[in-house]
Amino acid sequence: MKKKIFVGLGLVLLGFISVKLYDYLSGPSEQYTDVKVIAYHYNGEGYVGSESCMECHGDIYETHLQTAHYNTSEFTTLDNIHGSFEEGKNAVRLMDADITIVDKNGHPFQVARLNYGDRKQFDWSMDITIGSGLKGQTFLTNQPDGLHQLQASYFVPTDTWINSPNYANMLVPLRPVNDQCLKCHITFAKSNNENLNSNMYDMSRMVLGVDCEKCHGPAEKHVIFQRKGIGTQKDTTLLALASLSRQQRLDVCASCHSGLRSNQIQNPFKFLPGDTLSKFSKNFNSLRPSSSLDVHGNQFGLLISSKCFTQSEQMDCMTCHDPHRNQRGQSGYFNSKCIGCHQPNTITCSISETKMAANNNNCIQCHMPIIPSRSMQVQLTKLEESTPIGVRTHNIAIYPEAVANE
Ligand code: HEC
Ligand code: HEC
Ligand code: HEC
Ligand code: HEC
Ligand code: HEC
Ligand code: HEC
Ligand code: HEC
Repeated sequence: MKKKIFVGLGLVLLGFISVKLYDYLSGPSEQYTDVKVIAYHYNGEGYVGSESCMECHGDIYETHLQTAHYNTSEFTTLDNIHGSFEEGKNAVRLMDADITIVDKNGHPFQVARLNYGDRKQFDWSMDITIGSGLKGQTFLTNQPDGLHQLQASYFVPTDTWINSPNYANMLVPLRPVNDQCLKCHITFAKSNNENLNSNMYDMSRMVLGVDCEKCHGPAEKHVIFQRKGIGTQKDTTLLALASLSRQQRLDVCASCHSGLRSNQIQNPFKFLPGDTLSKFSKNFNSLRPSSSLDVHGNQFGLLISSKCFTQSEQMDCMTCHDPHRNQRGQSGYFNSKCIGCHQPNTITCSISETKMAANNNNCIQCHMPIIPSRSMQVQLTKLEESTPIGVRTHNIAIYPEAVANE
């Protein structure tokens, strides 16, 4: 009797072990490996998109959806275009043509029609929206000869459709868009060859937005590993950004926030967190003095030329920014970061207390003023009417004129 129970138990145990062994040998069961890979990096690692992070990093996922990063590019729909479709407000008038923005059976198009001769007409579908819509949006079209930037953009300060920056005031051949343009506005794309000038892409294999995996690297392995439920073990599938050197941490952000870096040595999409950016690209202006750095898109170059940075050991972008949150306009939060270092026992502001109070202790208003960007200037219809876009300088310094303006 006892023997039978033991044999029975033994069989159950054996069965259990063999099922486990089978699991182990055959890898995780279907539900766990069901990770949809959108695209593969040049190194073979898979991008799975932020939706696959939601189940475990719900709080970060939710706040990330509100960021300019996440929203900086998406497939164009009627809903994500901020400009008007209303007749009279949906056109850009050029010297030789009119471009109108229209809804054709639920998909947005830019229709360009010459206003002379045979009045030839071009219909271009609007396929990718670039720009979170803070300052403006520009649109890409995927044509048989590849990806191109469309001629009409939407400009927020004037709430109008405009001729895209640097396009002539007449109908011109559309500008091809390649990795050099996409690199700062999307997470990953692989053109049909590694040639930097190719503009042929498989649209279904693009990871849009500046998504989780832009800063953390492709995460297919991490998701599979964590879904297996062995999170208690040391997870080495992703690089811990907190453990990187100061320069490596800065490089993650500088890959897009240090100017155009048009001196490209390797394909920009090959760069991954932990890599050394200078091995991938350089700025032509990196040897010029900081005064000539433009405020547009070069927060890195400006920050590293300020004393706060050069005379402290730890400062990097995360000293003041939470990369997972939209913190635009939260001056109280940013000022608390200044005060965190500028304590009474160190160097503090030398203006009078009355003046400080009159300015609501708003350090950034005087020491990181908003300055018009030279490179982000938008030409409106008449050539002389150009509207520069204000960008907050990251050269933290003393600007006597900022006080004079108060
Ligand atoms: C099934 C749950 C699960 C999913 C899905 C998941 N994670 Fe994680 N992730 C974890 C756990 C648990 C940890 C903590 C692991 C540790 O401390 O060793 C973690 C840690 C991390 C870390 C910190 C790494 C470090 O060491 O600093 C990052 C970054 C991260 N995950 C990003 C992502 C991204 C991006 C996605 C989506 C593409 C994702 N995770 C999907 C469970 C998950
Ligand atoms: C080196 C990185 C980089 C490259 C390359 C780049 N951009 Fe940008 N772009 C930025 C940054 C950063 C901003 C945000 C403004 C700032 O910080 O000055 C921006 C802002 C924009 C905006 C306004 C978004 C908004 O609403 O705030 C548009 C539109 C835009 N870029 C389009 C393009 C197009 C089209 C190309 C390719 C021809 C391009 N960009 C290439 C980094 C880049
Ligand atoms: C713009 C770059 C960027 C993006 C986009 C980004 N992260 Fe992070 N993330 C970072 C940095 C940098 C750190 C390290 C913070 C530090 O050490 O100060 C970090 C830390 C983390 C950590 C570990 C520490 C913590 O805060 O819990 C997790 C988990 C994480 N990120 C998940 C995600 C997920 C999930 C997404 C997308 C929903 C995402 N991240 C998007 C840059 C980014
Ligand atoms: C792949 C390129 C890329 C990387 C990497 C990147 N950014 Fe950005 N960032 C952008 C672009 C593009 C914008 C402008 C988005 C828009 O408005 O359309 C932006 C906007 C921002 C903004 C302004 C947000 C707002 O609401 O106005 C901050 C702050 C910022 N980035 C900080 C960081 C930090 C910190 C890191 C590193 C952890 C980082 N970025 C990494 C491309 C990038
Ligand atoms: C990581 C610590 C740290 C943070 C954060 C920080 N600073 Fe500084 N700051 C310093 C150090 C160190 C110096 C150099 C002090 C010296 O010259 O002895 C400095 C210098 C300055 C100076 C003098 C600059 C000059 O050119 O003479 C100003 C102004 C200043 N900081 C303002 C700010 C403001 C405003 C903020 C917030 C936006 C800020 N700091 C954030 C550490 C910091
Ligand atoms: C000393 C604090 C501090 C540090 C360090 C810092 N920033 Fe900022 N950053 C700010 C403040 C303050 C703003 C303005 C926020 C606002 O008003 O919405 C800002 C705004 C921005 C913007 C939006 C600019 C605009 O006007 O549209 C970008 C992009 C940005 N930071 C990127 C970076 C990057 C990249 C780094 C690292 C190289 C960095 N920041 C380091 C304080 C800082
Ligand atoms: C109304 C504009 C204004 C505001 C607000 C302001 N500052 Fe200043 N700050 C100045 C000016 C102007 C100077 C230079 C004064 C001089 O040279 O006599 C200065 C000087 C400084 C210095 C250098 C002092 C030295 O001895 O060299 C630091 C550090 C500083 N400010 C930090 C801050 C911090 C931190 C805040 C926020 C709590 C702040 N400032 C708010 C205008 C301002």
